[in-house]
Amino acid sequence: MNFLKKQEKRIELTLQQNGYNIENVTLIPSNKPELGEFQYNGIMALAKKHQENPQELAKKIAAQLQQYEDFENVTVAGPGFINITFSNAALLNYGEELLKEKKWIEAKEPKKIIIDYGGPNVAKVLHVGHLRSANIGEALKRLAKYLGYNVIGDVHLGDYGLQMGMVMLEIKTRYPNLSCFQDDFKSERVDDLPISNDDLIELYPIASKKAKEDEKIMEQARNITYLLQQNHSGYKALWRSILDLSIHDIKQIYEKLSVQFDLWKGESDAEKVIPEMMEYLNPLNIIKESEGAKIIEIAEETDKLMVPPLLLIKSNETVSYETTDLATIWERKKIYNPDEIWYVADKRQELHFTQVFRASKKANILDESTKLEFIGFGTMNGSDGKPFKTRDGGVMTLRSLLELVKEETKKNMIDTIEGEEREKISEVIAIGTIKFADFLSHRSTDYIFDPEKFCDANGKTGPFILYSTIRMRSLLEKAGKREVHFKKIKGTSDKKVLLQVLNFQKVLENSFLSKSLHEITDYLYHLNNTYNNFYSENRILTETDEDLQNTWIALTKLVFEINQTLLQILAIEIPSRM
Ligand code: ARG
Repeated sequence: MNFLKKQEKRIELTLQQNGYNIENVTLIPSNKPELGEFQYNGIMALAKKHQENPQELAKKIAAQLQQYEDFENVTVAGPGFINITFSNAALLNYGEELLKEKKWIEAKEPKKIIIDYGGPNVAKVLHVGHLRSANIGEALKRLAKYLGYNVIGDVHLGDYGLQMGMVMLEIKTRYPNLSCFQDDFKSERVDDLPISNDDLIELYPIASKKAKEDEKIMEQARNITYLLQQNHSGYKALWRSILDLSIHDIKQIYEKLSVQFDLWKGESDAEKVIPEMMEYLNPLNIIKESEGAKIIEIAEETDKLMVPPLLLIKSNETVSYETTDLATIWERKKIYNPDEIWYVADKRQELHFTQVFRASKKANILDESTKLEFIGFGTMNGSDGKPFKTRDGGVMTLRSLLELVKEETKKNMIDTIEGEEREKISEVIAIGTIKFADFLSHRSTDYIFDPEKFCDANGKTGPFILYSTIRMRSLLEKAGKREVHFKKIKGTSDKKVLLQVLNFQKVLENSFLSKSLHEITDYLYHLNNTYNNFYSENRILTETDEDLQNTWIALTKLVFEINQTLLQILAIEIPSRM
């Protein structure tokens, strides 16, 4: 099924037959295409290990590999690189196989993975950091699903901490007569809450500033947080109503972004399992008292930087962000018993997750084999290299970024797309543009978001891939419904496209290993670039050699399907036109 793997196995077998015990042979695309298409670089190390002459060994192995029909040419270069050129026939066979097959990947062991991503905070505006978490998390989830894993996505709302206390205090100051602040209040929700989600978002920065400037106000906010966590009926109802407002808005944005969660849980869901977790933790003798607080020490001798203890219960009896995460692990184990839990969050939260993971391990909350993984990402910066701001210096919210990229997108769109359609399509392209840019570098690097550069349809960008995909689709439409097969290639630019196709599986596997999408965007770029070269060199629809034309249409279909599959994994929509 997997062409490259099959050839790697062949090389492995040949080496083994010659008495070399070797596994994991990897073929990589050649960096000197004039010498061969793919190369194997393992001979030098092998020869060294066996104290042999690498060139002699390479020549011996190359001669034996030459007997396989799939290899057009096997040569040796430099100190012992083996260069391989595949035969046209082998590639045609493989293309045909892929065209028939819908699933191009062998299914993996069906591990259960929970992916914790998105992580928006209730009552706070969604900013570009949350965008990155949603983009990366959604794509990793889809990738894992495509590879055959059983995945559960959880949004893990920030809905339980001090920010809730601050906002509720601000509401109380403004509207002291609301029903929820009266002693006899008993409802589930606050029916007379006079604010919208937009008001809510404006309230938070004001509330937070006031609390930071005045310790008395901060104390009041802490007290409200405490009462909330103690299930005070008025504050709990107010909290529920705030949550409703906020979630409604958050859901709308995620829908635009094609980000879909299986679970809409949050920090507050930890509440119901904290008592049982404490009951489990208490007899373990790992909880210490420190200045009225309960902590778990987790520092290790080998730590280069100090890892502070995990603050389990604060002296004012509220729980911390660490506690809700620890209790969430407890709950996830109880309900889902996952094999792995991944956390997609800003890399500046690494210490927090180190604390939580270590405490979970120290307390044996999970089985030994369960893996916890922190998937940290870098910051999206503005052209000044500092965290992205709007033109007037405000925080770059997700909505403002989208508007900005939409405007830039419209500059490049054809004039005949007008009115409402123009709005809709520019939004789809803008989202694809943002996502593609967001995936371009390794997730952990900070990058500069340059709207003009990322909208350029001739660059390594979302619009470039979308444009090329649409062009393939329209060619296929023009070709009409006909049966296509891989029969014949010229062996020039058409072969180069097929050689790119060979890398498909490896790219997905590597991307899964590194938990970074940059390998997929990189591949999409190279594949489409190669295809576009082929497209401009040939006149597919007027080609008179029928076998050639038929193969070229089949090739277009295959590349189009690869684009579709990968864009689907990246959660990027293909517009109807652009
Ligand atoms: N709400 C957090 C924030 O905005 C991110 C949540 C990450 N996930 C977690 N399980 N802690 O920073």
